Amino acid sequence: MSLKIAFQKPSAQKVICLGVYEGNELPSVTETWDKNLKGFLSKSLSLTPKFKGEISQSLPLFTPDHQRLVLVGLGKKEEQRPGQWQKIGGALSNILNHMAFEGEAAVEIHSLKGHKNEHATSNIAFGLLLKSWRFEHYFTKKKPEELFTLKKVTFLTPSPQEDEKAFKALYPIAEGAFLTRTVVTEPANIITPEALAKVALSLKKDGVKVEILNEKELKKLGMNALLGVGQGSDEESHLVVMKWEGGKKNEAPLAFVGKGVTFDTGGISIKPSANMEDMKYDMAGAGVVIGLMKALACRKAKVNVVGVVGLVENMPSGLAQRPGDVVHSLSGQTIEVINTDAEGRLVLADALWYTQSRFKPKFMVDLATLTGAIIVSLGQERAGLFSPDKALSDQLLEAGENTNELLWSMPLDDVYDKDINSEIADMKNVGSGRGAGSTTAAKFLQRFTNSVPWAHLDIAGVTWATKDRTLCAKGATGFGVRLLNEFIEKNYEGK
Ligand code: BES
Ligand code: MN
Ligand code: ZN
Repeated sequence: MSLKIAFQKPSAQKVICLGVYEGNELPSVTETWDKNLKGFLSKSLSLTPKFKGEISQSLPLFTPDHQRLVLVGLGKKEEQRPGQWQKIGGALSNILNHMAFEGEAAVEIHSLKGHKNEHATSNIAFGLLLKSWRFEHYFTKKKPEELFTLKKVTFLTPSPQEDEKAFKALYPIAEGAFLTRTVVTEPANIITPEALAKVALSLKKDGVKVEILNEKELKKLGMNALLGVGQGSDEESHLVVMKWEGGKKNEAPLAFVGKGVTFDTGGISIKPSANMEDMKYDMAGAGVVIGLMKALACRKAKVNVVGVVGLVENMPSGLAQRPGDVVHSLSGQTIEVINTDAEGRLVLADALWYTQSRFKPKFMVDLATLTGAIIVSLGQERAGLFSPDKALSDQLLEAGENTNELLWSMPLDDVYDKDINSEIADMKNVGSGRGAGSTTAAKFLQRFTNSVPWAHLDIAGVTWATKDRTLCAKGATGFGVRLLNEFIEKNYEGK
């Protein structure tokens, strides 16, 4: 990651950032400023009525003596909390990229100096870092001004050591999210199932135990639902198990399971070509699980966690699975594959069953870009949460609110279940009608949880942002890493 963030006592300053509370309340430090500068500030504010000091608003200025100055809105004085500060950092990213001199900028949020919560500066820095991530290494011809060139931001603060320490505690979470964004953005000719398995393997250096199962081993275990999806591809399918053992020795682990379809053509039920390129990100569930494991390992989380990802490529070929084929899943249940494009649930069926039977986890949370229907329901704003477990749901919803990775609770009533009964097998992989596509997919998954506490996150809509978001430039969001990290930290560490 290219942006460097440093903390030091106020000194020579290249860009000063001045925080302004809602209602354009200038910080008391301006009282000590010279009259000209104060007059200039009041005039600037009165000439730009759209800037009101609302959260994340910004106003770049050049002072009469040619200093760069950015006013940034801090929102309401009484609503200062980490999520808000991160948003401020996010807003600063673009503006500092434009105003930086030789890629460097200094920030001094005067208003937050001496603020009673000492984590303001570190959270602003964290938001800035998250929003500044870019994937630009395939450009060979762009001019610097077309690229993101902000290289270093120095926070000028009265307590540089404390702020740096607080920032270092957050940094691993960004590292995890960036790993996710990278693998999600890389195209499918680079991120094949094997390449993604190798990315997971690279977590060994952070202290994660990693096992990679190949097709022969999966066949022997009986993971025919997963294998059927990859059967038309020249790329070998894999299941990867990652273990982070930071908790008590015999404590049951938390389990996270990810859909890792490195490219989803739909198979023989082939997709239309328009936007099919998007299906390179159909491995995002797996990408989030890998990024989460990285974050947990890098911050040495005090908890036992297993991550399991099913890695396959869904291609049509002479060897591909046909609509109507029946497969024997690892659970023993048989599945009639009506639509080869409803492949994610087939991969997860075996991955979920394997996870609960081998690890006896406290619970399982799976993540998958599972259905187009969840995009119809929730767009890019929230991921769908499906869980029969009220306590688990509440914890996940709250973690979503705290990290601005929002979830919305979706139904999982038993009446939807009979829709996937098949005429010739235990179940079919799509519902009969066209309705409630995300719920029938979730009901299918539920049949492979063996009643272990479980939640399913359908992240099809939130994985790829077509517009800039608060903490992410457009493109891969890494949605889920910060949410699940928070969920674990708040509820399962040191307990
Ligand atoms: N990977 C897709 C879902 C998807 C769509 C993710 C758009 C991200 C963006 C999934 O495998 C799929 O094809 N689902 C089908 C299911 C249908 C055949 C029942 C869908 O949603 O159309
Ligand atoms: Mn599909
Ligand atoms: Zn898919």
